[in-house]
Amino acid sequence: MAYENLLVERDGAVLIVTINRPDKLNALNTQTVTELDRAMEAARTDAEVRVIILTGSGEKSFVAGADINELAVQSPVSGREHARSGQAVFDRIERLGKPVIAAINGFALGGGCELAMACTLRIAADTAKLGQPEINLGLIPGYAGSQRLPRLVGRGRALELLLLGAPIPADEAWRIGLVNKVVPGAQLMTETRALAQQLAAKAPIAVRYILDAVAGGLEMSFADAQTYEATLFGLIATTDDMREGTRAFLDKRKPIFRGQ
Ligand code: COA
Repeated sequence: MAYENLLVERDGAVLIVTINRPDKLNALNTQTVTELDRAMEAARTDAEVRVIILTGSGEKSFVAGADINELAVQSPVSGREHARSGQAVFDRIERLGKPVIAAINGFALGGGCELAMACTLRIAADTAKLGQPEINLGLIPGYAGSQRLPRLVGRGRALELLLLGAPIPADEAWRIGLVNKVVPGAQLMTETRALAQQLAAKAPIAVRYILDAVAGGLEMSFADAQTYEATLFGLIATTDDMREGTRAFLDKRKPIFRGQ
């Protein structure tokens, strides 16, 4: 598949998608968001792909936000539609059913921070900076940043980041739970690929159900979420991988999961 603003590379069961507009710090214009959606859908339907890494091109930036050239000309109607369609793309990433790891190689601002938050896990280079600076443009987040940020880091921290609009360094992002891990910049891709390989070796259906249970469950009452979990628990008992995993433990050997 040909993309104008993405680079896509396959490494076994891991797909690496790089947002590639380095001269614009990988800002998300409509074309890029559309291509990202296409690439993610292709990854979702390809049974050989088990994990996706999302990163940005160049040394400086993961994604420096939605493209401000496009934001500047929105009308009330188009602005709402712009936000709704971006939210839908990010929702599809969150609900892909496969882990998506954000390898945050630099600025993750505005839409970039929102994109990273829609991913399953976030690894940041020690040089990265994250934040929601929309307020400084007289704007608010439009790709669910006002919703995912408080869910990830708590209401108080989220309001501070959203209202002051000051980016925070990677180590602080780790301290508040916005990223899972911080690594030296030079090791970012090696560490992220290693994590991806670890995830790719897990039982894919169990991975998908965990992702479903967490994302779906957070939308429900606790009681409904527990019922949902129990249903998925019952379903997982129909899989060969569940038999293999439990049998391998009892046989004192490593399991081989086939995604069936
Ligand atoms: N949308 C569109 N273009 C962007 C952009 C964005 N979100 N972020 C950066 N760019 C462009 C710049 O306009 C510049 O383009 P030009 O060379 O054609 O003038 C290029 O990327 C390089 O950015 P520049 O500002 O020169 O780099 P810098 O190192 O001085 O500053 C940032 C880096 C990230 C601090 C700065 O680019 C910035 O504040 N970007 C906007 C961040 C933001 O508010 N994001 C939320 C948007 S809702």
